[in-house]
Amino acid sequence: KLAGLKTVKVRDVDMYEAPGTSIYVSKDHIYRLEETNNFEIRSDDIWVITYPKCGTTWTQEIVWLVCNNADTETANAVELDTRFPFFEYPFINRRPTIRKMPSPRLIKTHLALPVLPYQIVEKKPKIIYTMRNPKDTCVSMYHFIKMLTPFNYKGNFEEFAKEFFMGVTVGHGSFWDHHRDYWRLKDEMNILILKYEDLITDLAKEVKKIAAFLDKELTEEQVQTIVEHCTFKTMKNNSASNQSHMQNIGFTRAGMGDFMRKGKIGDWKNYFTPELNNMVDQLNKKYLEPEGLTFDYE
Ligand code: A3P
Repeated sequence: KLAGLKTVKVRDVDMYEAPGTSIYVSKDHIYRLEETNNFEIRSDDIWVITYPKCGTTWTQEIVWLVCNNADTETANAVELDTRFPFFEYPFINRRPTIRKMPSPRLIKTHLALPVLPYQIVEKKPKIIYTMRNPKDTCVSMYHFIKMLTPFNYKGNFEEFAKEFFMGVTVGHGSFWDHHRDYWRLKDEMNILILKYEDLITDLAKEVKKIAAFLDKELTEEQVQTIVEHCTFKTMKNNSASNQSHMQNIGFTRAGMGDFMRKGKIGDWKNYFTPELNNMVDQLNKKYLEPEGLTFDYE
């Protein structure tokens, strides 16, 4: 299946360009995407889709609470990954578990639009897509990739950022294509687009937006409960939602920082050189601004 695809070497690993998608994938990843294609979708599924490091975990926790009457007791007791499984989970195939889950299923994925299961188009499950500005996403990803055992990344931020913005560093392809493709669906009834920066600015407003999209009625008190449960500090201290399980399965390394790292807008200013900043501004102008997609950076 890989024959004929354009290949690029990334740190001695052969990456393949999936035709027409600008998605670069490793051998392993193509295999998993193939397996994904015919996965059975239910129309009452709720999918949280993101490019990695754009606020996936945060969105999942909010969506779970919105769907479960702000039940913080269970949210503190049961790991988020069990309540809200990751479709293309590293190491373990989660499809068998997800197939058996009762409806409505809550599913997380980072898959780019062209490689979602085919049935998404006809079954139209609800999709919540959270975006984040490219500069903070890159910084967050740099720290995360250094934690990841399979990557064993030793490069500095400057080197990482160049690869990241070319779309070859992570298995989920280019930041630009991922964001642009979902953004183009913004007027579809079954998709809600959120921005990390808006969650930071007014979480209560975004919780209400999510509830309205999912046809859930929440009292003002429930909204406040969700807001308090989903602050950075509370989630960082909650072992059921701070992704600490990743270390237990060997996906992340101890002593390389926390998954819940800073949770802020604007950390990029501590890392970006003027040249890099200029490069990203140009890429933004090329890929996202013509689509009407802009972000807050402060
Ligand atoms: P930083 O590395 O910038 O701190 P994902 O879940 O998609 O991997 O995203 C992880 C990023 O979201 C991390 O960003 C993490 O700190 C941030 N995050 C997670 N929960 C958050 C919360 N409750 N409030 C603010 N940021 C949060």
